[in-house]
Amino acid sequence: MHEAAVLPCKAATKVVPRGISLVLGQVYILLMDVFVFHGQQIQKNKRRIVMSNIKLRSGGTIPLEMHRARMVQKINLLPVNERLEKIQEAGFNTFLLRNRDVFLDMLTDSGTNALSDNQFAAMFQADDSYAGSETFFRLEKVLVDLFGKKHFLPAHQGRACEHIIARTLVKPGSVAIMNYHFTTTKAHITLMGGGIEEIISDEGLKVKSDAPFKGDIDIDKLNEAIKRIGTENISFVRIEAGTNLVGGQPVSMKNMREVSAICRALGIKLVYDASLLADNLYFIKTRDEEFRDVDIQEIMLEIGRLMDIIYFSARKLGSSRGGGILTSDDEIFSQMRELVPLFEGFLTYGGMSVRDMEATAVGLIETLDMGVISQTPVFVEALCNEMQANGVPVVLPPGGLGCHVDAREFCNHIPQEEYPAGALAAALFIVSGVRGMERGTLSEQRNPDGSERLAEMELVRLALPRRVYTLSQIKFVADRFAWLFENRHMIGGLRFTDEPKVLRFFIGQLEAIGDWPQALAKKFAEDFGGSL
Ligand code: F0G
Repeated sequence: MHEAAVLPCKAATKVVPRGISLVLGQVYILLMDVFVFHGQQIQKNKRRIVMSNIKLRSGGTIPLEMHRARMVQKINLLPVNERLEKIQEAGFNTFLLRNRDVFLDMLTDSGTNALSDNQFAAMFQADDSYAGSETFFRLEKVLVDLFGKKHFLPAHQGRACEHIIARTLVKPGSVAIMNYHFTTTKAHITLMGGGIEEIISDEGLKVKSDAPFKGDIDIDKLNEAIKRIGTENISFVRIEAGTNLVGGQPVSMKNMREVSAICRALGIKLVYDASLLADNLYFIKTRDEEFRDVDIQEIMLEIGRLMDIIYFSARKLGSSRGGGILTSDDEIFSQMRELVPLFEGFLTYGGMSVRDMEATAVGLIETLDMGVISQTPVFVEALCNEMQANGVPVVLPPGGLGCHVDAREFCNHIPQEEYPAGALAAALFIVSGVRGMERGTLSEQRNPDGSERLAEMELVRLALPRRVYTLSQIKFVADRFAWLFENRHMIGGLRFTDEPKVLRFFIGQLEAIGDWPQALAKKFAEDFGGSL
């Protein structure tokens, strides 16, 4: 009845530094087994600490935590009638629930990953100054070294980077081509008068597939789109690591190499959204034979070489808060640099708190440790396996970020115009107190003519913030979902009572069509008796 908020990484203490001859007080040293940051040792991945390396007697594996929880937060599970009341008050929108009313918060991993002891330690040594903070230079050095780029611009979060990039590169009428959009990415591009075109591989939009890298761009579609749109009308090509809206699906290095070669040959800028890179790195290492024994830092450097601009949400990558943009392009850098003080804050903090910048720097270094980055994918896989065993349709293969339930099949009696994924997320809260996120038609923007844009995938995402929830909590989610699946025909649709024009899923309010929420709560109480 708690979630982990701070944890020490046990394996970190066991690695012996190799090749460190000189350790200065506030220096970190790259390309060794251990980074030294603020005089602390932070383990880098040389020994392959992966859960699949630890076999049980039966030969199988379980998701095994490579850390221990030493600070925890109490969480509440309200009775079903109160959960019903709370979701009604929230307009059937899980974004509008108060966290005190939520049992397991699986809305997102954004800013909710557990922080490590090393991250907290670094936060205490932050250098508070408006301009020229040492904290900035430490973060800049980590980023520049990890990705091999010349310049770093800080921003307060991922969408702020998207705003700056869109303002710099998007001209009215231009098109940004990408594997798949993210909500805020598309909103910023359209705000600047641009459009988007999605060219993800066909496998990417199949709920169930064997393809290991479903986030890949379809190269034929890319060539065709460039020909049709014309190089001069393309604002940029964008690759999103760990493609969010199609189920946290990774992009392969082979695909990045191919896309980069095409863009370089035609002089088209290639932009990389690295927000979900941590999970994507895990999949590159575990699903691509070429990289099995390649150091994670080498993989990051290669990605850096292939891309012109890299941006990220540090709420995800680096498990802190904030964001940033990296490039070696002097011209683009100087254009974007002017926008940072205007929209974000001075160039040495960009709207971030110095404490979060310190935590981001350490979190980024920890991204090089398979024992850290494997945590979300292996728990996602465990939850997907359990859901599948209960007949619940989920996106396969399991990706990063969370387990994604296919609401279109789960609620195949609800038309997409009545938001089946939104309804399923609300129903889940009623029967479990678990907060998931709608990632379907509700999360889409209406077409310019006001008609509904039906989502290609209608998903409920159960995000697994890294190192926060335990296996027993995962089993509880699977159990409640199995009950909901048996009673799925009781779930009905939703309709808007208050629909914002932009990013409506965040604050829009809805109501149930009919009295299905009450009937569902009643059935739950009958079946579970006094149980919460
Ligand atoms: N790009 C991707 C791939 C993201 O997943 C997000 C955020 C952003 C950009 C924007 O970053 O939130 O820091 O402004 N994703 C969060 C989520 C909101 O819950 O998936 P941000």
